[in-house]
Amino acid sequence: MLVNCKNYKTVWMSGSSVFLIEQNLLPFEFKIYEAKTYLQTCLAIENMIVRGAGAIGATAGYAMAQAAIEAPDKNYTQFIENARKRIENTRPTAQNLFYGISRVYNAALISKEAAIIEAERVAIEDIRACQQIGIYGNELIKPNMKIGTHCNAGWLAFVDYGTAISPIYLAHKLGKNPFVYVDETRPRGQGARLTAWELKNEKVSHKIIPDNATAYFMSKGMIDMIIVGADRIAANGDVANKIGTLEKAICAKEFNIPFYVAAPSSTFDINCKTGTDIIIEERSQNEVLYQSGIDEHGKLHNILVCSPLSEASNPAFDVTPAKYITGIITEKGILKSISI
Ligand code: MRU
Repeated sequence: MLVNCKNYKTVWMSGSSVFLIEQNLLPFEFKIYEAKTYLQTCLAIENMIVRGAGAIGATAGYAMAQAAIEAPDKNYTQFIENARKRIENTRPTAQNLFYGISRVYNAALISKEAAIIEAERVAIEDIRACQQIGIYGNELIKPNMKIGTHCNAGWLAFVDYGTAISPIYLAHKLGKNPFVYVDETRPRGQGARLTAWELKNEKVSHKIIPDNATAYFMSKGMIDMIIVGADRIAANGDVANKIGTLEKAICAKEFNIPFYVAAPSSTFDINCKTGTDIIIEERSQNEVLYQSGIDEHGKLHNILVCSPLSEASNPAFDVTPAKYITGIITEKGILKSISI
């Protein structure tokens, strides 16, 4: 997608290095981060230099390929087995991470070259799936629709195009003039910082709204449809996504607003029977207690925004039961909610 009129992907590999758009610096600074080893790539996932289900899936695949490159001939299998465990431990919730790792690990058992080829395939398939999600999702968008979204399931969360935002980009290109209400998505602000930045770069009309304002906008008839992404989808259609998604889904049902989830098939986990089986990542309380932003000189600061003596709790995801979901937009078509 476009950054200052130039096309970028969120992640790519060249030689033995993995290159990532440094998402912690956005929207204030656009910088490319180079991870030279698989361990550096693990840290980039943990520290959310790269985030979003598909992007971390592709990055984890590349990390596995880096591990295959780094593995000594003598101890090759043991080395890649340990690397697999290390990469799996970076973040627990997004299914794509485990999907990317397992495909590249299996290829690495054959050879280093096979691992590199497979990592590239995972990334390319992610791009194609997101593009196809855009084509199916666009069919739901009528001219001048006002669409709500939560977190960032745009191109930064995947290798390119995104999921929830991919249909909006296509509708925009086709002249349908969609308007997007972007939830801030506290505590890390993926909506306010990343989705809004993406939409601005692509010249899509939008406004950032406070996380707790969605019900208000819905009650006033100002939102026609919601599209969000997903980090893991259980076999019964329950969806884990960024914390706050569940609230939006419940409100959408109350106000009779279609609530769609957009995700590639690599996000489905058929071994997970229901949403209650999904492990929810608990992140540092500092993400709630502190916020970052720039001052009038453009200098980035991290400041305390809460009572200094209080502690915080920070679950990164919640699970929306299938009964609240109108449909799941995939690269294979739109699945109607199964609600069992
Ligand atoms: O914690 P993050 O930023 O990695 O969260 C993942 C997400 O980006 C969201 O949950 C998103 O809505 C779905 S993944 C594209």
